[in-house]
Amino acid sequence: KKCTAIVLAAGQGRRMGSAVQKQYIELEGKPLIYYTLQTFEKSEVIDDVILVVGPGQIAYVQEEILDPYHIEKVHTIVEGGKERYESVFRGLQAVKDSECYVFIHDGARMFVDEAILQRGYEYVEKYGACVAGMPSKDTVKMVDEENFAVSTPDRRFVWTVQTPQVFEYSLIEEAYSKLMKEEGIQVTDDAMVAEQMLGVSVRLFEGSYRNLKITTPEDLEIAGTFLQNASAS
Ligand code: CTP
Ligand code: MG
Repeated sequence: KKCTAIVLAAGQGRRMGSAVQKQYIELEGKPLIYYTLQTFEKSEVIDDVILVVGPGQIAYVQEEILDPYHIEKVHTIVEGGKERYESVFRGLQAVKDSECYVFIHDGARMFVDEAILQRGYEYVEKYGACVAGMPSKDTVKMVDEENFAVSTPDRRFVWTVQTPQVFEYSLIEEAYSKLMKEEGIQVTDDAMVAEQMLGVSVRLFEGSYRNLKITTPEDLEIAGTFLQNASAS
């Protein structure tokens, strides 16, 4: 089946607190989102990309990123919404072929790689709904409102999830359409939408410990190191 990626770059980057939104911060002379897009551009599994950007940013992204870096797989750029799930929904509405698999990916995860995309394809073919993740390195505690520990889930069964989150288009489209009719929406990833709206069981597959989401200023230091190591080798 055809594979379409929805790359999300419509966030404000509040936790980064930088003057430019984090997806446009320059690292080794290139904007962060360039690195993410380049992996999709070169991928053997991805056919095309829908890029979701902030309101009023379409021309900027086209002229400053897609054109100069020759990113050709992005066939559609759409404006996102206030919350991530709204941006995902707008991206889903821009998908043209309803028979495809859709790879929903955080633009801020610039270290996604071809092996992860390949595994996404393999697992979505088998399970219809799958997300990249890794076993949690830290022990996780559930706490109460006063921050007292309530329970400690067995670490063998605790994974932190990443993106890409990969689905049969028809499945995730139905889940999001249902979600958008609800009030007081509280979802933090796409798997949750599939689980809660359709009761689908979502399979986790191995992402990588490098596939971090650039979120706070410390993450930029890590990103700088990863990039320097990559260019040295
Ligand atoms: N995102 C989006 N639309 C939104 C919110 C987030 O497209 N309304 C995207 C971000 O651009 C990012 C990804 O979703 O690539 C993951 O979100 P996050 O890391 O939370 O980014 P921001 O929302 O930009 O950051 P913050 O939460 O710190 O404001
Ligand atoms: Mg956010």
